[in-house]
Amino acid sequence: MQDLQNIQAKVQAAIDGAIDLEALDIVRVAALGKKGEVSLLMRQLGSMAPEQRKEFGPKLNALKNELNQAVLTKRTALEAELLEQKLASETIDVSLPATPIPKGSIHPVSQVFAETAAIFADMGFEIATGPDIETDFYNFTALNFPPKHPARDMHDTFFFNADEDGTRKLLRTHTSPVQIRTLQAAVQMAKDSGKELADTRIIAPGRTYRCDSDQTHTPMFHQVEGLVIDKTTHMGHLKGCLQDFVSAFFEREIEVRFRPHHFPFTEPSAEMDIGYERVGNEIRIGQGDKWMEILGCGMVHPNVLTAVGIDPDIYQGFAFGVGIDRLAMLKYGIPDLRDFFACDQNWLQHYGFSPINQPNLATGLS
Ligand code: PHE
Repeated sequence: MQDLQNIQAKVQAAIDGAIDLEALDIVRVAALGKKGEVSLLMRQLGSMAPEQRKEFGPKLNALKNELNQAVLTKRTALEAELLEQKLASETIDVSLPATPIPKGSIHPVSQVFAETAAIFADMGFEIATGPDIETDFYNFTALNFPPKHPARDMHDTFFFNADEDGTRKLLRTHTSPVQIRTLQAAVQMAKDSGKELADTRIIAPGRTYRCDSDQTHTPMFHQVEGLVIDKTTHMGHLKGCLQDFVSAFFEREIEVRFRPHHFPFTEPSAEMDIGYERVGNEIRIGQGDKWMEILGCGMVHPNVLTAVGIDPDIYQGFAFGVGIDRLAMLKYGIPDLRDFFACDQNWLQHYGFSPINQPNLATGLS
């Protein structure tokens, strides 16, 4: 009996003294586990005389139950303590500013493509595309560049090595080949459907390549081509369309002038200039005493229409090509074209546009 009381006092003291759940479990196993002190006594019951067992059994059971209960109580207390500690140490201050997550920005070229597309979409233009790697036919011949004509040297072309048939593919020097591809597709569609040729009104944004590099020229640059073909479009439409475009793009009235020029694929051909003035170091676009060339344009040459099987006595229209990088530099005050393609993070953060809630022509500018 004395033994049981001693055991109870000893184990209870050990339980009370356990500093954490692990220590408590060691105490529990030592007393109540399979080979624990109390369990060993339980096992001895079998070998006792019936009298003894009758007296000893209930007491031993009671001891076991009490100790089990004591362990449980202590465990609950320790767990509560642990939770308290966690709650105290893991508090978060929801008023602290969030950790900034670096976010990308829209490249000025993409921004200006999007703005240009939005303006021409409002005028009913669709977007057309073509490959960067072109054949001589699409880049030159179909566009009325005569063979060996010096006009071909106008563009310093990147040629590929000759194919087996001796022809050399090239990196397109302008987006004008998309004119040919678009018109060929329209002619094919007319043939397939048995209907008359549908009107064409497209812009073709894309990359173009010329062997050139300085502050305002890079070997790869961007253009947007425009093409309108129907039965009635004339030079007046061309002028109105491009005048409207630059005013919408620069978001102010822009004075323009058309200067006669030469392109093999348009007749008459022109370059369009926009007025500007210099105030200190700043270039103010709109009006002024100076003119800057901004795009090439003209009425589509009859030979171009003939090359794709369209009758130039029935159909006519205009085309234009504008340098997108140039527009971006002018509108957003970016001094050096080469920086556009240097992949400098600081430059991109500075000149780039937020992809979220950005003011643009589609959502309405300031
Ligand atoms: N393709 C010409 C260029 O790159 C621009 C242009 C396009 C001119 C369409 C007239 C008509 O210089």
